[in-house]
Amino acid sequence: MIIGVLNEALPGETRVAATPTTVEKLIELGYGVVIEPGAGAESSFSDDSYVAAGASIGDAATADIIFGINAPSAAQLDRLREGTTVISLVSPAINPDLVADLARRRITALAMDAVPRISRAQSLDVLSSMANIAGYRAVIEAANAFGRFFTGQITAAGKVPPAKVLVAGVGVAGLAAIGTAGGMGAIVYATDPRPEVADQVVSLGGKYLEVAAADVEVSSTGYAKEMSDDYNARAAALYATWAPEIDILITTALIPGRAAPILITAEMVASMKRGSVIVDMAAANGGNVEGTVKGEVVVTANGVTIIGYTDLPGRLAAQASQLFSTNLVNLMKLMTPGKDGVLVIEWEDVVQRGITVARDGEVTWPPPAVQVSAAPTQSVAEKVIDEAPVKVPMSTARRFTYVGIGAAILLLLVAASPPSFRVHLTVFFLAIVIGNYVIGSVHHALHTPLMSVTNAISGIIVVGALLQIGHGNTAITVLAFVAVLVASINVFGGFAVTRRMLSMFSRS
Ligand code: NAI
Repeated sequence: MIIGVLNEALPGETRVAATPTTVEKLIELGYGVVIEPGAGAESSFSDDSYVAAGASIGDAATADIIFGINAPSAAQLDRLREGTTVISLVSPAINPDLVADLARRRITALAMDAVPRISRAQSLDVLSSMANIAGYRAVIEAANAFGRFFTGQITAAGKVPPAKVLVAGVGVAGLAAIGTAGGMGAIVYATDPRPEVADQVVSLGGKYLEVAAADVEVSSTGYAKEMSDDYNARAAALYATWAPEIDILITTALIPGRAAPILITAEMVASMKRGSVIVDMAAANGGNVEGTVKGEVVVTANGVTIIGYTDLPGRLAAQASQLFSTNLVNLMKLMTPGKDGVLVIEWEDVVQRGITVARDGEVTWPPPAVQVSAAPTQSVAEKVIDEAPVKVPMSTARRFTYVGIGAAILLLLVAASPPSFRVHLTVFFLAIVIGNYVIGSVHHALHTPLMSVTNAISGIIVVGALLQIGHGNTAITVLAFVAVLVASINVFGGFAVTRRMLSMFSRS
């Protein structure tokens, strides 16, 4: 079969649904590939680079399978044959007329934006690929509009505080934004109704702000549910408190199939500092911020910039095209079981059924519901305002009881042991206590290098054994030699491990 790659008709679209790299992979799967002239120009892929990868340049409409970022325009659809398969974004929930039109034309339509959020389908999930890029780009846009550093600095000319960034909504885009802003040196706070994301925020170096509400949101679908009035009121209080504090606000809150929830009111925007920047990633769905204008940048009366771009992935066109087209290749691998260039739709497969929105003249959207398990086994939301979650410390009474019992056992043992052994036993127990305190105060991640350095204590054994080695008694000499050998392995091995561990922490 031949795959045709469209030159996107949507004004402002910079992406393309195949790159020279993915063309090679499609050819390996047995397909021929036709690229429309100039299709990759805005993503920096020339027609020549496609030809070098094995594609031909021509009219995609003659192909059996059509690849697009966006669904074909009416003019493009008019040129397609009956029985063609179109694979692109379709947004079937908000474009029922388009889906009906595709069915009427007897075109099979696979909607890449309908991939269910299950782990098996992650490699096809274009929404995640694009949201990841968009989250990164949102921070870059914010940094561009923000007149200051993200990272804190101490210079000869004075101290520069780090920027404070708040990310509202910790899905794919939110996580990418947290990672990017943190990487640029900002202090990042994030909130989301799904408590399971708290650990992810912390692992990216951010601080999770919990909205303490009666209904803790536990997702069972991979997506959020609509929140209660109680939750919304408490979240509003949190945003109102933080708005004057932060420099950058990135909003990504989304409930699939609904208009974006308004999180930030005009009053909150008015309370923000002059020069602050908001990137409202949900602008295409109505926005999370009062005052957002879809596709535009507006500056409020108090000097807050609100960015409502809806084409953030397209602003990294080459990267976005590469990831989108790799998702398409992964779909083709799934749907080409014979690796013979023949597309087979496996109707029983939940992923393939899920994305097929029109087939054999019929609308096949919506598909049967897919249950995914994104929910945690228990809904524990760690409240992290200024530090990572900590273990509940042992009560003082309990600690004294344990120490008392330990001391009593030690005294009994020392009293019962022969006088020549008492000193050794006392030193041994004290070493346990001190070692426990020293190691307990060191971060877990550093335990191995710490232990290997303390192996140098084996040096004491070496010294002791060397003193004994010339004792004259053969048995003592042999034992001393073995002690020197084993302790030396410990000492030098310890340093080798330490060196290896520490090199893992240094930038190459
Ligand atoms: P996602 O579904 O992975 O994440 C959305 C997050 O919002 C979820 O974690 C959810 O729990 C959270 N959320 C829902 N209701 C909330 C509330 N009331 N308060 C706080 N958080 C709430 O979605 P993804 O893929 O990360 O996309 C995020 C947004 O970015 C979407 O609106 C999407 O349309 C948009 N987007 C925008 C682009 C652009 O160019 N502007 C490009 C790609 C995505």
